[in-house]
Amino acid sequence: MSMTEDIDQLLQLRQQALQGGGVEKVKKRHQSGRYTARERLDMLLDEGSFEEFDMFKTHRCQNFGMADQQHPGDGVVTGYGTIDGRLVYVFSQDFTVLGGSLSETFAEKICKVMDMALKNGAPLIGLNDSGGARIQEGIESLAGYSEIFQRNVMASGVIPQLSGIFGPCAGGAVYSPALTDFTVMVRGNSYMFLTGPKVVKAVTHEDVDVETLGGASVHTTRSGVAHLAADSEEQAIACLKEIFSYIPQNNMTEPPRVETADPADRDIEYLNQVLPDNPHQPYDIKQIIVNTVDDGRFSEIQPEFAANLVVGFARYGSQSVGIVANQPQHLAGVLDNDASIKGARFVRFCDAFNIPLVTLVDVPGFLPGTVQEYAGIIRNGAKMLYAYAEATVPKVTVTVRKAYGGAYCVMSSKHLRGDINYAWPSAEIAVMGAKGASEILYAKELREQPQTAQQLLAEKERDYAQSFANPYVAARRGYVDDVILPSRTRFRIIKALVMLADKQDTNPVKKHGNIPL
Ligand code: HXC
Repeated sequence: MSMTEDIDQLLQLRQQALQGGGVEKVKKRHQSGRYTARERLDMLLDEGSFEEFDMFKTHRCQNFGMADQQHPGDGVVTGYGTIDGRLVYVFSQDFTVLGGSLSETFAEKICKVMDMALKNGAPLIGLNDSGGARIQEGIESLAGYSEIFQRNVMASGVIPQLSGIFGPCAGGAVYSPALTDFTVMVRGNSYMFLTGPKVVKAVTHEDVDVETLGGASVHTTRSGVAHLAADSEEQAIACLKEIFSYIPQNNMTEPPRVETADPADRDIEYLNQVLPDNPHQPYDIKQIIVNTVDDGRFSEIQPEFAANLVVGFARYGSQSVGIVANQPQHLAGVLDNDASIKGARFVRFCDAFNIPLVTLVDVPGFLPGTVQEYAGIIRNGAKMLYAYAEATVPKVTVTVRKAYGGAYCVMSSKHLRGDINYAWPSAEIAVMGAKGASEILYAKELREQPQTAQQLLAEKERDYAQSFANPYVAARRGYVDDVILPSRTRFRIIKALVMLADKQDTNPVKKHGNIPL
């Protein structure tokens, strides 16, 4: 063959690979309101930055007539590119090729980029759109998934791993995302389940549609499996990029700084009036967050799951931070099972990737009762304790109102190696609320004087609140470093983060801890 013929052949093969499962399948995909694997990569990566690997790779399966069903690339597009100039490794599953199902060679392609991402210290973003293990291959496909899972785990805490879910993802196609750090779904157009409705029907006789089984709302409100739900694929890709902007390349580097014109010493008078006069009245903690962070930009994670705890990324003085805050507007901001699991996982992510933690506290305690106890609030609350206690990143805490009981200990208290612990003058830091404490301490008197019980209780509550429901008991012991003006919160947090920029702290050498899972 002449050189020209060689080149023509290459271009032809490339063209074939670019077609995925063929024109008809692509058309069907578009009709379902979805993009192709390549179109998604185009949206994700900087223009012209994508370099593809293994475009000509094909499967080796001979069963079920598969020898005749060859598609160059075998249903997954892999390679690397950049986002805002930063290196990222990617794979994007192509549903038009055998439902994006995973073959042995499909898995090899993904493993190759995972290995490179780990070796070269760059994040991995997987765009998933797959019916799971390729049924025609059987065990080879299961082996392929296991190889991916093993790499997900080895990469965990070393390079950030992000997942986008597009289309119906089943089986192994959901376990790999579950092992990654953040998962974004598309409302009405993406699903995650271990087995599809047909298998569910066959095994449990349950009739269920894909949306009810594993739609975005299920996983972002009930199961907590996914972190964000977007209204479109474009928006889902934008969410992945937004998360990417706050996180470092790997666990040995710092998150990128984003310069801002927002003054560090900006006074925020509004915060001096933000709390309601009645301490039992709710308010929105996000008002405090958006008013204090750079340019009012807060990227919340899992906004609809356990809304009593707000977590997300923002910047203070250009420094990327993870924010954890109780939300009095939802369940009075208590810590319950879901909130503890959500908070612990987020704290551990930030700690693994050198992202300082800013904790805003207004928590009446852990949610009591059988529902919580039976669901393991002891074990789950301990996750949160564990996560904060092992975290060695800078930890800045501001108690704005309540910090009661065990929840005081948990929320990045001084005793869990909190670096800077500030309190607003409105803070109430005590073992329990004034009413509960008075009822227990004066139970005998209240029983013995039923006619005057209400009056006595009110008196004792007032006394208790005056003596203990304030920040000064903690401040006198040094558990609170300073009581600050609410209007100076932004400035004080930024100063603390600058002071802590070179913080070094370690944990004892161990194989790994035993977090109460
Ligand atoms: C091979 C598959 C496939 C699979 C889909 N296809 N899933 N081929 N292996 N796992 C093929 C279909 O045969 C079809 O081919 C094409 O992909 C599109 O699929 P449809 O069913 O037409 O699409 P849709 O109606 O949108 O339904 C999508 C789906 C459904 C919900 C994902 O296909 C489904 O339920 N698939 C099986 C899901 C499942 O149970 N997977 C678990 C595998 S076990 P044609 O040629 O007709 O276009 C597993 C174990 C991993 O993953 C272990 C982890 C621990």
